[in-house]
Amino acid sequence: MSTTNTTTQALRAVRAQLVYFTHDPARAYLDGTPGTVHHTDGIVAFENGRITAVGDYAKVAPTLPAGTPIEDLRNKVVTPGFIDTHIHYPQTDMIASPAPGLLPWLEKYTFPTERRFENPEYAADVAQFFLDELLRGGTTSALVYCTVHPGSADAFFKESDSRNLRMIAGKVMMDRNCPEFLRDTAETGARDSEALIQRWHNKGRQLYALTPRFAPTSTEAQLGVCGELAEQYQDVFIQSHVAENTDEVEWVRSLFPGHRSYLDVYDHYKLLRKRAVYGHCIWLDEHDRRRMFETGTVAAHCPTSNQFLGSGLFDFAAAEATRMPVTLATDVGGGSTFSMLQTMNEAHKVARLSGYHLSAERMFYLATEGAAHALDLHGTIGTLAVGAEADFVVLDPKATSLLARRTALAESLEELLFAFAMLGDDRAIATTYAAGKPVHRRQAA
Ligand code: GUN
Ligand code: ZN
Repeated sequence: MSTTNTTTQALRAVRAQLVYFTHDPARAYLDGTPGTVHHTDGIVAFENGRITAVGDYAKVAPTLPAGTPIEDLRNKVVTPGFIDTHIHYPQTDMIASPAPGLLPWLEKYTFPTERRFENPEYAADVAQFFLDELLRGGTTSALVYCTVHPGSADAFFKESDSRNLRMIAGKVMMDRNCPEFLRDTAETGARDSEALIQRWHNKGRQLYALTPRFAPTSTEAQLGVCGELAEQYQDVFIQSHVAENTDEVEWVRSLFPGHRSYLDVYDHYKLLRKRAVYGHCIWLDEHDRRRMFETGTVAAHCPTSNQFLGSGLFDFAAAEATRMPVTLATDVGGGSTFSMLQTMNEAHKVARLSGYHLSAERMFYLATEGAAHALDLHGTIGTLAVGAEADFVVLDPKATSLLARRTALAESLEELLFAFAMLGDDRAIATTYAAGKPVHRRQAA
């Protein structure tokens, strides 16, 4: 992992209530440690973009050099920045577009909107707005789809790099079943993706993801070369969609006869591995879920998108039974919010509908340390532990009058975090820090 491009940044600290995770709170019974780290009066110190000290204020503050600036945020809660594992930046301007399901929505809104990214100036403009919006919601890292145009990825990485954000993104590959104006070929898609890897992967904090949109829009030849690139560049990410919608599953069955399942198509082309992330994972069976676990392949659960497009309900209990890695994501523009707090809200409700209880501690874990662990970026992002990149958010329990009333009565950390997840959105994010610098401050109402 390359170092961040912040080389000189003086030591400073914030004093606040701190919450982060060492492992999944739902699995705490396995080794007896709680998984959640909570300091009611804590301090986190950072220098040159990284966390250098963390813990109880009374213990850690005296160890800091005299004169270290300490911002007093004792009435606020600091958590690691959120990680959104599936989002489409080109779909920013078409969020909230009505359609009767995934496939008509792609035809009517998505493809025409993505065509606009042939213009690099438009791409740069959207990339700026998109990153502002992520930071406003407290998201400091995301796994981002660009469009088929290599310039759309250049525009995104350029903007992200200039803000020193830890982002993962890739140019979409698609060579069939989409309008002519959005097609690459197996050859040009691979060549352009490889050139982008050379330009951006590990440049500062940028990371590359091979991005075959989904099996229906790639020929077997394209999936084949994508698998070869994935093998050649083991530390590059892979992102795609799987088993989102029953019409899509049927379509894949007719396009790829002879495969046991939709997921098996990706398995066949060696696209299941560590650092591979698949959006949705609704219509999987137990065999598929076990394969995800065996290969370390990650599910990105996108509850607002799944409800908005009527795709189906992610099965948390089934995922847990096989221990496949699960993360949370917005899937904007299929998703209807940029806020990971709102995404937790909807994930909780989707889980409840299947009789599963998703606690707030678990949801905050999934949106931070859990995602970092699943993405193989454990220790780098998603935590306040010493050595990690200083990406964190300052949550305001009094952000709205309703939040203030509810959080004043919270009797446990779980109740406090649950109130943020159910009632919070971008208004609850007072400040977002990336690599130790404030990159968003909420304007006073
Ligand atoms: N499947 C293929 N492309 C897309 C997309 O852009 N959004 C969603 N939600 N599903 C897809
Ligand atoms: Zn998507």
